[in-house]
Amino acid sequence: MSEPDSRGDATTPALIPPPLSLYIHIPWCVRKCPYCDFNSHGQRGELPIGEYVAALVRDLEQDLPLVWGRPVHSVFFGGGTPSLFPPAAIGDILAACAARLKFHPGAEITLECNPGTAEHGRFEGYRAAGVNRVSFGIQSFDDGCLQRLGRIHDSREAEAAVKLAQDAGLDNLNLDLMYALPGQDLAMALHDIERAIALQPAHVSHYQLTLEPNTQFAARPPEGLPEEDAAWDIQEACIARLADAGYAQYEVSAYARTGRQCAHNLNYWRFGDYLGIGAGAHGKISDGASGTIRRRWKPKNPRDYLAHAGTAAGIGGDDPIAPANRPFDYMLNALRLVEGFALRDFEARTGLTRRAIAGELATARERGWLEGDGEYLRPTELGRRFTNDVIALFLR
Ligand SMILES: C[S@@+](CC[C@H](N)C(=O)[O-])C[C@H]1O[C@@H](n2cnc3c(N)ncnc32)[C@H](O)[C@@H]1O
Ligand code: SF4
Repeated sequence: MSEPDSRGDATTPALIPPPLSLYIHIPWCVRKCPYCDFNSHGQRGELPIGEYVAALVRDLEQDLPLVWGRPVHSVFFGGGTPSLFPPAAIGDILAACAARLKFHPGAEITLECNPGTAEHGRFEGYRAAGVNRVSFGIQSFDDGCLQRLGRIHDSREAEAAVKLAQDAGLDNLNLDLMYALPGQDLAMALHDIERAIALQPAHVSHYQLTLEPNTQFAARPPEGLPEEDAAWDIQEACIARLADAGYAQYEVSAYARTGRQCAHNLNYWRFGDYLGIGAGAHGKISDGASGTIRRRWKPKNPRDYLAHAGTAAGIGGDDPIAPANRPFDYMLNALRLVEGFALRDFEARTGLTRRAIAGELATARERGWLEGDGEYLRPTELGRRFTNDVIALFLR
C-alpha cells in the first residue's frame, strides 16, 4: 500500500473500495435515432429476449469473482431501449442478479423507457419485478422537434406514458429532455421545461444536443441548430425555471427534487465502482488489497455478445487504470457535480495522495474555475461553464 504514486510520493493512501452499482445494457431500439451514438441497434424482427437474458446471467457469473461479498447499491437498465423487454424478462434478470449478488435494502432500480414503447399494464409488471425508478426518453414536448429528431413518439404519447407509470404507483420518475434542438428557440425550450414540470417528475435530465461522430446528424447536420451562445442562454434560463419549481441542479445535466438525485449516476460521478453486463457494457472495479482499479468491457455487437457471453471471448477488454491516469478519470466525473469533491474522497478512490494533483488544483483556483476550503473543492460558475477545460488540466 505504500508504493510511490505517479508523482513519487512515499505515502500513498489506501485505495478503499467505494459503493458498487450494477449496469445492465439492452442494445436494441424500435428504430435508431439520427443523433444517437449509444450502443443501440434498430430492431429487425423478433428480439432474442430469452437468449439475451441467459447471456446476461453467464456474463454476470463470470464477473462475480471481481466483487465477492460486496453489496449492490443501485441497478440501472440502460440502452438502447430496455422497455422493449417485457416485465417477465426484466423480472427474470433481476431475480438472477439477486440470487448471485447481495442487494442493499432499498437499492434504486431504474429502467429506461422510450415513451413509444409504453403499454397499458407494463408498468405494474415492471414494478412487481422490482423496478422502482423509470427514466423516460421524452426529448421534447414539441411535435415538430420530435419529428426532426426522428423519434417514434409524439408529445401526447409522452404524457400518456408518464401517467401510466404514475398510475402504476411508480413515483420516482426521470424525464430526459434535450435542448438546442434544430429549429428550437428559448421560448420553445422553456415550454418543454414547463410541460415537464407539469407532470411532477422527481428528476429531470436536460442534455444539450451534441453532434456525435458516426451519427446521421454528424454526417448531415440538421438545419436551424442554435449557436453556442444561444444554447448557453437556453441552459441558464432553464436552470432558473427548474430551480424555481424545486428542481436543483446537482450535475451538468441533472436536476432533482430534494432527496431524489439519481443514486446510480451519483455513484459514477463520485468515482464509485460498477459492474457492467450486456453488449458493450463497461465496468470499473477497485481492489483495495492490490491497490488496482480495472475497467472491463464486453463485446459491443449484440451477435458477438450473445455468442460469447460468459467465456474468455465475452470479455471485450480488461485494463488497469494506471495511477498516472487516475486524476483525469476522477475529475472527468467529479467535476461534473455541483457539490464537487472532498480531497479525502479523491485519495480513497484513486489511492493517490492529494499532492499528486496540487499543481493542477492551484492552476484551476488561479483561473477562478474551482473554489472551496482546504478539504472540499467545487467548480465555480465559470468552472461550470468551462467544465471540459477544467477537466483537461488533469490530462497527462
Ligand atoms: C440511452 S438514451 C435513453 C432512453 C431511450 N433510449 C430513449 O431514447 O427514449 C439516454 C438519453 O441520452 C440523451 N441523448 C442521446 N443522444 C444524445 C445526443 N447526441 N446529445 C444529447 N443527448 C443525447 C437522450 O436524452 C436520451 O434519452
Ligand atoms: S436515443 Fe434512445 S431510442 Fe433513440 S437510438 Fe438512442 S438509445 Fe435508441
